[in-house]
Amino acid sequence: MTFLFNSDAKRGATFAETFARELPDIAFSMDPASVEPEAVRYLITWTVPDDLARYRNLEILFSIGAGIDQFRIDAVPARVKVVRMVEDGIVRMMQEYATLAVLALHRDLPAYLDQQRRDIWQPIQPVQAAERRIGVLGLGMLGSAVLERLQPFGFPLSGWSRSPRAIGGVRCLSGAEGLDTLLATTDILVCLLPLTAETRGFLNAELFARLPAGAALVHVGRGAQLDHQALADALDAGHLSGAVVDVTDPEPLPAGHAFWNHPRILLTPHIASVTQAETAAAAVIANIKRHRAGLDPIGLVDRSRGY
Ligand code: GLV
Repeated sequence: MTFLFNSDAKRGATFAETFARELPDIAFSMDPASVEPEAVRYLITWTVPDDLARYRNLEILFSIGAGIDQFRIDAVPARVKVVRMVEDGIVRMMQEYATLAVLALHRDLPAYLDQQRRDIWQPIQPVQAAERRIGVLGLGMLGSAVLERLQPFGFPLSGWSRSPRAIGGVRCLSGAEGLDTLLATTDILVCLLPLTAETRGFLNAELFARLPAGAALVHVGRGAQLDHQALADALDAGHLSGAVVDVTDPEPLPAGHAFWNHPRILLTPHIASVTQAETAAAAVIANIKRHRAGLDPIGLVDRSRGY
């Protein structure tokens, strides 16, 4: 029985060590050319390999990342469980980045960076945390972890998800009506939605228009959820005051794109949160043990929802 690791060798070395220690009965390989295809029961990868069909006995297809939108899931046989990466490292990094971004927007950092570039020493009237309403789109593992980390600052916190959720200290909204309410009462919107057919292009001109004037955006979902032109337009028109953008479509952002030099956008190259080898190996091993015990792996994708 083989676990096939199809990602970078550095993370692979950590996985190999952890597997040897924790699951010695499973052969660990990083080389698709040398495995016995029928022996491969588990595969971890970022994209689905074209020759997936050769792994006739595959039981679990693990994503090396938090999302599975890059998988062509229809090409994965129905008997194979598809599992997202749910691990402490990814969660902690997203908590850090989202907190950084929310605080940067809360404390007017894009405007101050712009002023610094232009030799302007000019305080901006500060807004207190209790007056700054944060709304998080997506209340999965990452969205709820981010809300938990934001609690001590004293922001009024809301979250929105497709189906109803309950999180202590957070006003949880759902459905179309809930989205209306969330948008109308959010000053800093954080997008942590999975990319699905429904969320493609979700952050568009119509949505921005439903936010209060002066609102700001933190985009840490997926690039294809954002209408880039609509964001630039809403910022240029002054309806939105700033944005922190970590994901774009395409990536890398092409030369000459309006986001590169936009005075109200802080741009980072999809680094908000990255799978950490040690914690990820532990999470994958725990999931294989669950699977062997007849339990669903943590992060099991519901194919009907698409995440
Ligand atoms: C990064 O975006 C990931 O999916 O882990």
